[in-house]
Order: sequence, then C-alpha cells, then structure tokens
Amino acid sequence: FVGVKLGILGLGTVGTGTVQLLQDAVGRHPLLEEVEIYRVGVRSPDKPRAVELPQSAITTDLAAIVNDPAVDIVVEVMGGLEPARSLILQAIKNGKHVVTANKAAISRFGAEIFNAANEAGVYVMLEAAVGGGIPVIQPLKQALSVNRIHTVIGIVNGTTNYILTRMQTEGSDFSDVLADAQRLGYAEADPTADVDGLDAADKIAILASLGFGGRINLQDVYCEGIRQVSKTDINYAEKLGFVIKLLAIAKYQNKANSQLSVRVHPTFVPKAHPLASINGVYNAILVEGEPIGQVMFFGPGAGAGATASAVTSDILNLVAALKSNSAVPNPLLSCRHEDYCQVTP
Ligand code: NDP
Ligand code: HSE
Repeated sequence: FVGVKLGILGLGTVGTGTVQLLQDAVGRHPLLEEVEIYRVGVRSPDKPRAVELPQSAITTDLAAIVNDPAVDIVVEVMGGLEPARSLILQAIKNGKHVVTANKAAISRFGAEIFNAANEAGVYVMLEAAVGGGIPVIQPLKQALSVNRIHTVIGIVNGTTNYILTRMQTEGSDFSDVLADAQRLGYAEADPTADVDGLDAADKIAILASLGFGGRINLQDVYCEGIRQVSKTDINYAEKLGFVIKLLAIAKYQNKANSQLSVRVHPTFVPKAHPLASINGVYNAILVEGEPIGQVMFFGPGAGAGATASAVTSDILNLVAALKSNSAVPNPLLSCRHEDYCQVTP
C-alpha cells in the first residue's frame, strides 16, 4: 500500500472545506498521512482560493483527472447534473472509487451510477449528500439495516431552515436572509433548489430509497417550497402553538401494499415535537422502525466545515478499506436499487 491519490472535482464551499480539513487534521487521524491531494479541478483557475495548493495541482481539465491512472479516489464536489454525472461514470469505468456530495445527481442517476459501480467493483460513497455533517447514510444502511423502517421524516435543508428560523425569531425578510445563507455557503449554486424544496426532495428520495429498499422516482415526490410562507403565516403558527418547518417525509401510506408517500412541504409542527426546536442551519432526521422505535439524527446540515467532515469520513473509510484490502463496511455498492418503490403521487 503506497497511499491514496485524490482527484477532487470542485474547489468551492465543500471542496475548499475538504482540502482545508485534509490539510489541518494531519496528526489527528493516522490515515491522513496516506492521503495526497493530487489534482483539483475548477472552472476558474485564477480565482483567489482560501487554501494553499501548488498551482500545478489545479486544472480546468476535469476529464483528465478522472482519466488519470494515478488517481485512486475521485471526490466529486462540483455539483450540478452534467458534467458531474458523466465524470462520475467515467471515473467508475476507470476503476476509481468515488466520494460525492451531489444529492441532485444521486437522486436522479443513482441507479445508473450504482450499477456501473457494481460492474466495476468500486465504491460510491455519499455521506455528505444528505444532512451535511450528520452521519445518516451509513447508519441507515448499516446500524439500522435490520429494522423494518416505516417513517423517515426530517428537516433536510439547512438554507430554508435558516431562513424560516430567522423569519420567526427576528422577523427578518426572506430575501435578506437568503442572501446571508448564500454568503455563509449554505445555499446551492442556484438557491431555487433550496427555496422551492427541490434539494429536500432529492435528499428524501435518497433517504427513502435507503430506508425502504427501492428506487424512488423523483417525479412521484410532491414538492412545495417556502416561497409562499409569509411573516403572517409564521405569526399565526406561533399564536396557535406551532412553528413552520419545511419537512421532508417518507412513510408508508398503506402498509398492506407497501405504498409510500414521499413529500416535501412547509408544515405546522407542534412546538413540543422534537423537530420543532431544530433551528438555523441545523438538520434533523427522525427515523421510525421496528423493533427500534424512534431514532433522531441531528447536526449541522450545510456549510464548509460540517460537509467536509462527512466527505473526509468517506475518504478515510475508503482508505482504510483499500489499505487492509477489505470491503467498506456495508457499502452502498451492495445497494442495487433495481426496483421502484410504489409512491402515491
Ligand atoms: P460551489 O458552487 O461553492 O463550488 C463548486 C465548485 O465546482 C467550484 O470550485 C467550481 O469552480 C467547480 N465547478 C463547478 N462546475 C464546474 C465545471 N463545469 N468545470 C470545472 N469546475 C466546475 O458548490 P458547493 O461546494 O456549495 O457544493 C458542491 C456540491 O456539494 C453540490 O453537489 C452541493 O449540492 C453539495 N453540498 C453542498 C453543501 C454546502 O453546504 N454548500 C452541503 C452538502 C452538499 P470555480 O471555483 O472555479 O468556480
Ligand atoms: N444547500 C443545501 C442546504 C446544502 O442548504 O441544505 C446541504 O446539502
């Protein structure tokens, strides 16, 4: 074992956070010394960056990174659908393992990507794709796998929870708070995905697919964002003992025929409910199953440091597996996603 070379696609909020963590945490984790940031792909090579990297490591030729025989792991943190999808597939075809934070690509092309990974015998890791820094993907696949899950319900978008919280606690204006969420690196490159609930829909499709063991067709996910939520709505909710949260919900509509309801919409949540007190950029995912009962995952749902923690944990899990020549514990490689779940539109 001679260490692992990373090819990182993207050096924005998440890419920069990940490079920073990989550099700063050396000494904190023994395997970090085995990881080399080998190539980093960007769109604008001359943009000032918050991390120091040799200029020779930076390129605009992302295809060259995924085709480079020296690269062991491709870390896709560029976002968007294309060219991200094609680059991930090309990396897999070239026998590289992939770590991605890209819920939009996974929710749409997950089947294609995992089938390609199964064929190539490589791993695709996506802890950062849902819940930012919260470890939820591996626990759902691993620690909870013996349970029969019947509900996954959560606050899975940091930007909208940050906006709703500040509208509620400070009476702030929607557009001012959205600008702050963008400045803080919480929002997507196109914040419409956050505000209109599409990012939460991608995430609940991934969680439902893991929890219920089948593919979710995004078109079957009812999706309504927070654009229509006014200060008046928030004030009325408050008076009636509720808070308004953008919830993402996947649950059995009808257990007898395994029909699911998967949806995203603003919801009046009673103040005593555990999700009512999740504020700011924090996310929480409440999973109910048998025999475990209720489990809640809670933590920072977006931002550079939190998301870098999840990306880096995937990288280190891969490095550990490659070093010991063993399998990644319960990898998503085993997730075949061949059948669609029945979702009530
Ligand atoms: P940013 O927009 O901040 O960064 C994107 C990076 O990718 C930039 O460095 C950009 O280059 C590069 N890039 C994008 N398209 C291309 C292209 N066609 N060719 C070359 N380089 C390209 O995004 P984020 O870091 O916020 O998000 C990245 C991914 O992580 C997304 O999938 C997002 O959904 C996901 N994510 C984000 C979280 C967050 O808190 N921000 C949390 C969890 C997941 P350049 O810098 O030159 O413009
Ligand atoms: N834009 C996303 C959010 C990033 O606000 O939750 C984390 O996936």
